[in-house]
Amino acid sequence: MKTQVAIIGAGPAGLMLGHLLRAEGVDCVVLERHTPDYVLSRIRAGVLEQVAVDLMTRLGLDDRLKAEGLVEEGFNLADGERLIRIDCMGLTGKSVVVYGQTEITKDLMDAAPGRGLEVIYGTEDVALHAVESDAPYVTWRKDGSDHRLDARFIAGCDGFHGPSRKAIPASVAREYERVYPFGWLGILADVPPCNHELIYANHERGFALASMRSHTRSRYYIDVPLTEKLEDWSDDRLWDELAIRLGPDAAANITRGPALEKSIAPLRSYVFEPMRHGSLLLCGDAAHIVPPTGAKGLNLAASDVHYASEALCGHFKRNDSDGVAGYSAKALARVWKSERFSWSLTKLMHRFPEDGPFERAMQVAELDYIANSKAAQTSIAENYVGLPV
Ligand code: APR
Ligand code: PHB
Repeated sequence: MKTQVAIIGAGPAGLMLGHLLRAEGVDCVVLERHTPDYVLSRIRAGVLEQVAVDLMTRLGLDDRLKAEGLVEEGFNLADGERLIRIDCMGLTGKSVVVYGQTEITKDLMDAAPGRGLEVIYGTEDVALHAVESDAPYVTWRKDGSDHRLDARFIAGCDGFHGPSRKAIPASVAREYERVYPFGWLGILADVPPCNHELIYANHERGFALASMRSHTRSRYYIDVPLTEKLEDWSDDRLWDELAIRLGPDAAANITRGPALEKSIAPLRSYVFEPMRHGSLLLCGDAAHIVPPTGAKGLNLAASDVHYASEALCGHFKRNDSDGVAGYSAKALARVWKSERFSWSLTKLMHRFPEDGPFERAMQVAELDYIANSKAAQTSIAENYVGLPV
């Protein structure tokens, strides 16, 4: 088989890139290890910046997003009894949209056949070859036989654990990592949200987040030590803890219900440089991870594929190789700013086990500053709604 761009991974990054390329008449094939049902079973964050909404609109795949997405004009930081509202719309003129990442993936997946986007599911042992040349190729096994796809470029959209990043030699790679000493225990339940806007809470017992998927489906999180076991957290225990950490006002509005899903996810900040080597471009979680505080993961995948599709279309349609040459630097400039914001919001809103009274006093001072400074609130708001691409 032969194509122009071989895309590895059919998560949001791979599918968005595939659609963007097909919309411009560039040939591509997406290779995905799992089944569509498996890909759609992964529950992840659900706050979309303008870059992600614009991308779906550009593709003409925003019908459900427009109909079902909840426009959020602000969000809240809670510190004990105090609630600081960040008025994103008032401060930046922009809002975010709450729409589950799973729904984005489903919309992209459902539209693929009609748009001529070929996605091959169930590909085993995917391997990248000759990425430093102008004729890279990908091999895999499916249904007991071997396959090969020749391409001009490979787009590694295969998440944190995929093979693409590892195809870049250690001699040119730089890795930056911060692992956090806690994870987020999340619960999804078919109950109305306790508040129409998100609440990020820093309580003396730890972090909590009240989020949602719709007017009838809520998503909540608390942070727990990584040693914690899911089976020790009954639904009742988790609802009790959420009520304490979110504070009395939110607690009074919490509706409890059975968990549709409950899981613990570790928190990590990670950046891999460069995001291009030879004919291989990395996009999304394949190149970077953010802690979920601020919900930047999917939005960074969207900005990466925006830059990557422009670069690849430049190559194929305008015979312009500057975009590909500059892809890594352009994408990383935005990645690092989102990394900084996710890390600083994580530090501000969590109680780290190694922190003492000084670090806590710094959190209190910063929250007090934010509560009383329009400049500080504007800085948080413009990062939350997303920096320009
Ligand atoms: N071969 C083929 N496909 C693979 C392989 C492989 N060896 N390894 C991984 N994949 C697939 C995964 O099964 C998954 O469907 O690559 C896809 C990567 O998808 P994601 O992990 O969702 O990553 P990405 O598309 O970059 O999306 C970024 O997802 O993880 C969240 O917070 C993150 O919101 C962000 C978004
Ligand atoms: C979510 O709704 O899952 C969510 C929202 C905001 C975050 C993280 C996760 O910062």
